[in-house]
This record gives sequence, structure tokens and C-alpha cells, in this order.
Amino acid sequence: MKVDVLTLFPAMFAGPLDESIIRRAREAGRLELVINDLREWTHDRHRTVDDEPYGGGPGMVLKPEPVFEAIEDLAGAETRVVLMTPQGRPFEQAVARELSVHGHLLLVCGSYEGYDERIRSLAHDELSIGDYVLTNGALPAMVVIDAVARLLPGVLGDDASSAEESFSEGLLEYPQYTRPAEFKGMKVPKVLLSGNHAEIAKWRREQAAQRTAERRPDLLKDKNEDSEEKKDDS
Ligand SMILES: C[S@@+](CC[C@H](N)C(=O)[O-])C[C@H]1O[C@@H](n2cnc3c(N)ncnc32)[C@H](O)[C@@H]1O
Repeated sequence: MKVDVLTLFPAMFAGPLDESIIRRAREAGRLELVINDLREWTHDRHRTVDDEPYGGGPGMVLKPEPVFEAIEDLAGAETRVVLMTPQGRPFEQAVARELSVHGHLLLVCGSYEGYDERIRSLAHDELSIGDYVLTNGALPAMVVIDAVARLLPGVLGDDASSAEESFSEGLLEYPQYTRPAEFKGMKVPKVLLSGNHAEIAKWRREQAAQRTAERRPDLLKDKNEDSEEKKDDS
């Protein structure tokens, strides 16, 4: 997959995407990442990308011209153009899965007070990483890249790890343990030491359901509503 990012702050991307799994994905050519500076698409001496809002009000607004020009240059027929914005649809694991099947993403990061509204007409999708407002779209874009890249084939050592983890089945993940079998008086549940795969799978399903009910009952409600909808459709 190729991911282009359009941002006013390319330097923010150095570091988080140069480590660990994402670094290896890039080195292996599974993820090609290009960070583009929006100012490259300005034509005046001051490299202006923002202006005052019509109608007055605080802050500055991203001008349409450089963003339009940049998207026209960077996007092809197959590109999924995604605007990072707190007004977007919530970014969740299911959305990461959706994005992971595209060959080319172009993530557009806003700053200041936000975008000239006409910029939205170029986007296939608008995503929010949560109900809070950050100073610019670089961190949200990095969150999206990280979550999507780990779903690409071959990026995680074992592709099953992403199939079983939290949110993949609409549930939180079951509790995990590693050696030692007893630590400071706390014991690993016997079933996990039993070698009985059917019993282990059953225990994990029950624990995942219980944990989700305790911590995120909203996920169970969504899951039940989904299965009701599927029944109605059939
Ligand atoms: C200060 S915010 C602008 C917020 C805008 N005035 C509003 O109320 O919707 C500047 C930029 O940061 C990014 N941003 C901030 N919070 C975000 C979030 N929760 N999810 C995605 N992007 C966000 C967006 O790219 C946004 O255009």
C-alpha cells in the first residue's frame, strides 16, 4: 500500500513511523509512505496556505487553492482521499480494515481553525480519531497509518494476531498471560496450562464477553444490533 500525507508539519512524522513494526513494513516495501509539505503547492513569496475566515471569527482557515492543487497532483483514479477532521466519522478498527484494502491513501491534515469548506468536496471520507480537538492533523494521520499498516498482509509476524485482538470481533480481547505460571502469588488460570485447545478457546470467548460487558457494554449493544439487522435482511 502507498500512503501519501499532505501536511504543514512534515517534521512531526519523523520518529513515530520510523520504529518497530511500521519501520519493518516500510523496509519490506509493504508500506510506502510519502510525507508531502502543503507549502510546496503555494506560489507566492510567503508560501501562504491560510487566510482569515469570511464573516469574521477567530483563527485562520486553510485556503482551497494549494490543497486542490496538491490533491490533483497526488491522487489518481484509485486513490482514497481522506480528510482528518474532528467532524469526521469515528475512526474505529472496522474503518482501519476498510482502508487497508485500498492500494493508495491520501491523508489530508488540517491545521489552524480548519479547512475552507470547499476542500471537503475532494474527500471520499472524513475521519475523526476522537471527540477532542488537536492542534493539527498530523497525530490523527499517524494514528490512522499505524492502525491500517499493521493490518496489511505480512506486516504482523502472525496475521492471526490482528484477527483475534480487541474490536476485531466487536469484543475486547480476553486476558493474556505469559511465564511464570505464578508471580507474586498471582496464578495463571489453570485452563491455559491444560493444553486443551477447545477448553482454552471456550474460556477465552467467555472472558472476552465478560470483559466487554464490564468495560464496554456499548460494544455488545452494537454487536447485537448488527446481528438483528443481519437477521432482518435474510
Ligand atoms: C484545531 S483543528 C480544527 C477544528 C475545527 N475548528 C472544528 O471545530 O472542527 C485543526 C485540524 O486538526 C485536525 N484534528 C484536530 N482534532 C482532530 C480529531 N479529533 N480527529 C481528526 N483530526 C483532528 C484536523 O485536521 C483539523 O482540521
